[in-house]
Amino acid sequence: MKNFMFQALMIVFMISILAACGSEGEDTSSSQEQEEKGTLKMATSADFPPFESYDTEGNFEGFDIEIAQIIAEELGYELEIEDMNFDGLVGALQAERVDMVMAGMSATEDRSKNVDFSTEYHRSGEMLISKAEAGIDSLEDLEGKIVGVQLGTIQEEGADLLSEEYGFEVKKVDDASILIQELNSNRIDVGYMDKTVATGYMDSQGFVGFDDPTTSSPGMGVAFPKGSDLVEKVNGILEELKANGTMDELKDKWLSDYE
Ligand code: ARG
Repeated sequence: MKNFMFQALMIVFMISILAACGSEGEDTSSSQEQEEKGTLKMATSADFPPFESYDTEGNFEGFDIEIAQIIAEELGYELEIEDMNFDGLVGALQAERVDMVMAGMSATEDRSKNVDFSTEYHRSGEMLISKAEAGIDSLEDLEGKIVGVQLGTIQEEGADLLSEEYGFEVKKVDDASILIQELNSNRIDVGYMDKTVATGYMDSQGFVGFDDPTTSSPGMGVAFPKGSDLVEKVNGILEELKANGTMDELKDKWLSDYE
C-alpha cells in the first residue's frame, strides 16, 4: 500500500514537472506574445529627479515611475524598467525593444515623426543654472562661457541654436546628473535643463538660475512605438487619474517642492 502511495505521488510529481516544462516551452515558442501579455517594458533615463532616479536602496523612484506603475497595474502587466541614456530612448522605441518610455520626455513635433505620444501629463520650462558667484543671470552673460546640456534633449537643440547668437560653447553629456558634477567642479559654467529638475538642484546645491525667455517647450508625454495600441489605453488611464484626483496627489507628492 505504502509502495502504491509512493508510486502515485511520484506520478503526480512527474506530471507536474512535465506540465511546468510544457508551459515553459510554450513561453519561448511564443515569447513575443507572452511578453506582450505579461510584461510592460518601459525604458527611462533615471538621472532626472523628481521624475526618475534611484532611491537609496537602488530602486527606481519618481513621478514618472509611479505613474508607470499605475499604468502597468491598470493594464494588468508586470512593469519592467530599463535604464538607458536619454539619447537612446527614441531609438529603443523605434526598434520596438521597449513598449513605452517615461523620461520627462517633451512631446515635440520632431519626435512625433518617429514615436507616438500620450496626452500631456506635465508641463515645465527651461532654466539656466549656475553658481551664484559666477554672476550669470541673463542670456547676455553667457558670452564666452561653457553651457552644459544632456545629449538628445530639447535643451541640446535649444543651446545649439542660442550659442551662436550669445557666443557660448555647448558641452554635451550623456547623463543629466553629470551636468551637476560638471557645474560643481567648474568644468562648465552653466547647466541648461528642465525647469522642474533645475529648481530641485537650485534648492539642494545652492545654484542660482533664470528662465530661458526664448522657448516654450511642449509638455511631457508617455512615448510609444508608432502605431502602438497602448496609446489610447494610456490616454484613458491618464484621463482617469486626472479626473479622480490621483494626478494631483502625485504632483503634490513629487513635484510640489520643485515649484
Ligand atoms: N524634457 C527634456 C526633453 O524631452 C529633457 C528630458 C530629459 N529626461 C531625462 N530623464 N534625463 O528633451
